[in-house]
Amino acid sequence: MNNSTIALMIYGEPGSARNALAEEKYKKLAGHFIENGFAIDSVLYHDSVCNQLEAELQKYAAILVWVNPIEQGNSRKKLDAMLGKLSKDRFVSAHPDTILKIGTKEILYKLKDTEFGGDIKLYDSFEDFKQRFFDQQDDVRILKQYRGNGGNGVFKVDVSNRKNDRVLVTHATRGDVEIPMTVQEFYRSFETYFDAGSMLVGQAWNPNIINGMVRCYLSGANVSGFGYQEVNALYPVLNGVYKKPGQRFYFSEDCALFSDLKNIMEREWVPQLLEITGTKTEMLPVIWDADFFINKINTDKANGKYSLCEINASCVSPFPESSIPYIVNELKKRIEK
Ligand SMILES: Nc1ncnc2c1ncn2[C@@H]1O[C@H](COP(=O)(O)OP(=O)(O)O)[C@@H](O)[C@H]1O
Ligand SMILES: [Mg+2]
Repeated sequence: MNNSTIALMIYGEPGSARNALAEEKYKKLAGHFIENGFAIDSVLYHDSVCNQLEAELQKYAAILVWVNPIEQGNSRKKLDAMLGKLSKDRFVSAHPDTILKIGTKEILYKLKDTEFGGDIKLYDSFEDFKQRFFDQQDDVRILKQYRGNGGNGVFKVDVSNRKNDRVLVTHATRGDVEIPMTVQEFYRSFETYFDAGSMLVGQAWNPNIINGMVRCYLSGANVSGFGYQEVNALYPVLNGVYKKPGQRFYFSEDCALFSDLKNIMEREWVPQLLEITGTKTEMLPVIWDADFFINKINTDKANGKYSLCEINASCVSPFPESSIPYIVNELKKRIEK
């Protein structure tokens, strides 16, 4: 194995012409790797070619993976099993074990008692869900499936009228469409989220979503950039006006607007995350992100200002340009080890 060859893996249907090295999202990163003496190939992943890929991937010193938890309805089950095996002799990012530790919605439950956590419930079986969901007193809750992306399996549930057997459910992928259901229909519609021993995570509805969300990008344990999106999925309808999710804008790790978040992440919250989840620093992905609600504006305290919406570790792209040298450095460190 030549220790300077990297596979840059993205999702591709059989016959797809995708090439990561030519795609806007990865082009500059690939260029930076090449400038730093690495050889890099684009590799397309699809479950149907998993077995043959496993043999082909033996020649790489590192495999960097950008595949969502759900791609065209497919989970990462096969992919993660393959990456687990390949990681024994080479560097894989994100490592499938790390994704399970920090990159599913369960992380919200694990971190609930930290200062950036929140009111989180974990329902580990359908029975448990039916028994406890209506215990909480809030009129509006959020439910999130264990592993998902793009709002898939994230729901806003308005239970204010539950006494009249009426629940309103809004899927984060469906704009402001509210589906009325009876309580029984509501339960039934969530049953499949518990298939194969999976779980649902409940989170308090955060009305501060109207302040936009900040995405903190990290490479290993270092903050490598930020994103800010003013209007996000489930943004509430205000004065009868529905706003569609808008564009995310990118900022470097040195952006003064987010310097409070960078400081508290690097000094306190990432070390806490590592400790609580039992993750070693060198197991952190070369690129991952933590998304935060902005609960208070015009405050000089980061503590209480931000709370966690989710952590992404499976497929963080696009990322800010400032993350690129961090990703390359992180990979160099890991390969040298
Ligand atoms: N607790 C919450 N309160 C208000 N809006 C939320 C809440 N949780 C999630 N959302 C909205 O739903 C979107 C999708 O949820 P998220 O946890 O990011 O899951 P994913 O991106 O993996 O589908 C978020 O980007 C945000 O716009
Ligand atoms: Mg999200």
